[in-house]
Amino acid sequence: MIIKSMSLQNFRNYENLSLEFDENTNIFYGDNAQGKTNILEAAYVSGTTKSHRGSKDREMIAFEKEEAHIRTLIEKQGIIHKIDIHLRKNKTKGIAIDGIPIKKAGELFGIIYFVFFSPEDLGIIKNGPSERRRFIDMELCQLDKVYFHHLSNYNKILLQRNRLLKDLSYRPEDQGVLDVLDLQLVKYGSQIIRIRRDFVEELDGLMVRIHEKLSGGREEMKLGYEYNVSEEDFQDQLFRGRERDLRQKTTGTGPHRDDISFLVNGIDIRKFGSQGQQRTSALSLKLSEIELVKKRVHDTPVLLLDDVLSELDGSRQNYLLNYIHDIQTLITCTGLDEFINNRFSVDRVCRVSGGKVTVENGQEADK
Ligand SMILES: Nc1ncnc2c1ncn2[C@@H]1O[C@H](COP(=O)(O)OP(=O)(O)O)[C@@H](O)[C@H]1O
Ligand SMILES: [Mg+2]
Repeated sequence: MIIKSMSLQNFRNYENLSLEFDENTNIFYGDNAQGKTNILEAAYVSGTTKSHRGSKDREMIAFEKEEAHIRTLIEKQGIIHKIDIHLRKNKTKGIAIDGIPIKKAGELFGIIYFVFFSPEDLGIIKNGPSERRRFIDMELCQLDKVYFHHLSNYNKILLQRNRLLKDLSYRPEDQGVLDVLDLQLVKYGSQIIRIRRDFVEELDGLMVRIHEKLSGGREEMKLGYEYNVSEEDFQDQLFRGRERDLRQKTTGTGPHRDDISFLVNGIDIRKFGSQGQQRTSALSLKLSEIELVKKRVHDTPVLLLDDVLSELDGSRQNYLLNYIHDIQTLITCTGLDEFINNRFSVDRVCRVSGGKVTVENGQEADK
């Protein structure tokens, strides 16, 4: 699948922008704060309804404007789809596929898959568990509508439960509501645990091979699902933790406390890895994600590489650039040098400056 074109209106620093993409490698280069990341963000929103950096809708609308539009054309198995996203300051966003408004954001998933790779992702291994959970959730929501449904319900119930835990100290008569919420939390939570387990297992199988190549055969990667509680024990543990939850006024048991572990040659690199190891592993994680999408949907995702090349050393850069030659990629960077140095073929080059994009000729360096 590929993204053919995108037009933006009042999105971040773009008042009006129309862009066409090459089906292979597209480069957006320019100084800092010119709008490079904003382009990738808009593309990502059109596939997932959400900003990769977790921004709220209102933050993506241009300053002093009330609404923004992202319109994209997607080609999937020879068929063109039109996706319109309408961001509104004080209302939920409107989404239409091929001109037909959809009611639930989840209906958009599956039209196009984006894999986003940013410098912050390089820290995914050493940072806290919430970022690793976010990674799992962003991937699974794109891949599995059922997961998205379970997750939104789970988060809703969790919020209600935490609110109730706070209220119960002065409204003890509501204790019965807690029983009802617990049942629902277990119902959705168990599904989440089950789907995450399968996902991590599948990813692990792909990652071990990629990481082996990336580390020149020196490192054996093992990805593990570190669940807070298993499906079978969830109900029981939640009940047993109730006194504690009431004291702490928050829910201490459930998949919202999950993590994934990364073992390299048996060592937990979240805590004991070198920075190089952590970065290499983050790269293999992203590449495995691409493989997983390919395997599950029998099509290639679109890769969004935001300023990440300059963060990698030469051999990792080469590996990555060789890897992506058969998938559509949108790359942002500050200078073009890194590509020329790598003698890498680029199909479209655009210069980004102050919310304007100029297409320069697609240039080819001999390989
Ligand atoms: N809601 C907004 N409205 C207008 N401009 C914005 C908005 N959000 C961010 N910007 C501007 O976008 C620019 C940053 O864009 P970004 O794509 O992150 O830059 P970079 O080229 O460094 O990736 C800044 O100039 C910032 O002021
Ligand atoms: Mg940027």
